Amino acid sequence: MTILVAVRGWKPDHWIDALRATAPDRTVVLPGDAFDPTAVRYALVWKPEPGYLRTFPKLEAIFSLGAGVDHLTTDPDLPDLPVVRIVDPDLTGRMTEWVVLNVLLHHRRQAHYITAQATGTWKPLRQWAASAVRVGIMGLGELGSDAAQALQALGFRVTGWSRTEKRMDGVDCFHGDQGLAPFLARTDILVSLLPLTAETENLIDRAVIDALAKGGPLGGPVILNAGRGRSLVEADLLDALADGRVKGASLDVFATEPLPPDSPLWRAPNVFLTPHVAAESDPEALSRYVIGEIAAYEAGRPLRHLVDRHKGY
Ligand code: NAP
Ligand code: GLV
Repeated sequence: MTILVAVRGWKPDHWIDALRATAPDRTVVLPGDAFDPTAVRYALVWKPEPGYLRTFPKLEAIFSLGAGVDHLTTDPDLPDLPVVRIVDPDLTGRMTEWVVLNVLLHHRRQAHYITAQATGTWKPLRQWAASAVRVGIMGLGELGSDAAQALQALGFRVTGWSRTEKRMDGVDCFHGDQGLAPFLARTDILVSLLPLTAETENLIDRAVIDALAKGGPLGGPVILNAGRGRSLVEADLLDALADGRVKGASLDVFATEPLPPDSPLWRAPNVFLTPHVAAESDPEALSRYVIGEIAAYEAGRPLRHLVDRHKGY
């Protein structure tokens, strides 16, 4: 029952150590190791080489080591096997921290105070109550619904938008194409936690930006993106920041990662950037999750958190 770990762009050592510590009875291998490909039953992957997973004839399940699966769904040679994604409180909690932090940075006008501090300037600005600010979350899934609850607990007025109809206590829920315009019209701070699919690629463009609420307490709409970079048209955001149609932004994900040094986003006004670290995959926590899911599967229970290949997430 060999477990293969194939991660591109991440150091595998920490994963191997965490998996071996969590499941000392299992054989855990890396792509460069000498092992029998027919022994591999499970593959734990992040951006594997396209076609690579086809080379394991007895593979039973693929585990994405992140919540997002666009790194797999874009592989035309992905074997027709169950793909399990990460749904774990450790990862969810990290994302909620990022969302709350960045909503508060804009709500509490922190860019102004960072600049003022640098010049030794004492200049208080008017501060609105959280209840005056409407936060709209695109993607009310595992991550979006947890962030929505945390923001609600702080007093923000929270709305959400999803593909299918949802109900959440205290959250005005919109869905589908027909729900997008009314959702945007009541959003001061837009938070995207959408997966990247054919439908969400380039979704947040000039038209979406211009449909956001005007006249809110922050002096203009603010955009946060921790879903996937390619859901946002960066040039349209830059134009809107330059001419004041958007007041600020926080971005963790980008169309090209790492963000190129010459990207104007680095120097855009009132923009906070993080290098795709909003919700890092923690090897210890997620090894426990994956090994637990494998044990349940081997005990005869169905695999959970499966990706729907047709929907793309
Ligand atoms: P999830 O549970 O699958 O939730 C996805 C949500 O997006 C669902 O509410 C879904 O609607 C909605 N959605 C999908 N396509 C849509 C469309 N065309 N129109 C409207 N809504 C749509 O996923 P999750 O676990 O919350 O993760 C979300 C994404 O966060 C991941 O896919 C990944 O890209 C990103 N992520 C980023 C980081 C980071 O560090 N930056 C870390 C983890 C994850 P339904 O509820 O109707 O299906
Ligand atoms: C990170 O981006 C993830 O999808 O978990």
